[in-house]
Amino acid sequence: MSPSTEELASLESRTAEEIVLWAAEKFGTKVALSTSYGAEDMVLMDMVKKVAPSMRVFTLDTGRLPEETYRLMSLARTRYALPVAVYFPDTSRVQEMVNTHGVNLFYDSVDSRKLCCQVRKVEPLGRAMNGLGAWVTGLRREQSTARAAVRKVEFDEGRPGVMKICPLADWTEEMVWDYIKKWDVPYNELHDKNYPSIGCAPCTRAIQPGEDKRAGRWWWESSSKECGLHEHAAKATAKP
Ligand code: ADX
Ligand code: SF4
Repeated sequence: MSPSTEELASLESRTAEEIVLWAAEKFGTKVALSTSYGAEDMVLMDMVKKVAPSMRVFTLDTGRLPEETYRLMSLARTRYALPVAVYFPDTSRVQEMVNTHGVNLFYDSVDSRKLCCQVRKVEPLGRAMNGLGAWVTGLRREQSTARAAVRKVEFDEGRPGVMKICPLADWTEEMVWDYIKKWDVPYNELHDKNYPSIGCAPCTRAIQPGEDKRAGRWWWESSSKECGLHEHAAKATAKP
């Protein structure tokens, strides 16, 4: 089922729509779009609706998302009518974490923040990925140095046997917004308030002119700007 090295190399020259279609044909019910309802994911949702409407779509609702994201989820449901599967964190793990470390533990230390991301995002992602051979994400090379080497189709380092598909890998931010405007794609209102990258409400702020696009994510931390969705799950150090 895995594509050959030659096929992987040839996929690099395909358009985003062609990659979405290729993924749907190659993996059928074993591939899903993972959406956070960010600008890139809205582009992908629009493409999925157009070229592969039976592709599965899922989102991880951490329980701490901004109100604006919930509004967009609702809007997108009306606009696209795609059955988006919503995955929530495990109640008992959240309860134990909050009762032990407090509701806003993420501000206490990097380990506490990673624990929260593990409980609220990474573990639910594991459930969402159960049985999948591939997932489609909105990662772009331009987003950060950690993402600079992302390929359109690659083996997911953190998930043996699973392919990670990034149809927008070579897109610029301008291309994302051109697409959104051209096709009148609904988007998160926070993007108009200087939030280029949107995650959970308490862990996302607006950026200042000239700041890095991901500067508003976990802004109180100096190093890591990843939550574990796109790293090897085993790298998450903290334990509940
Ligand atoms: S994160 O790792 O820092 O949170 P980012 O917000 O840049 O990731 O999103 C990158 C990609 O990860 C998205 O395009 C999407 O595919 C996936 N993703 C991020 N957050 C979620 C979420 N809450 N639900 C589903 N997929 C998500
Ligand atoms: Fe928790 Fe913040 Fe991670 Fe959301 S982004 S899961 S609130 S630490």
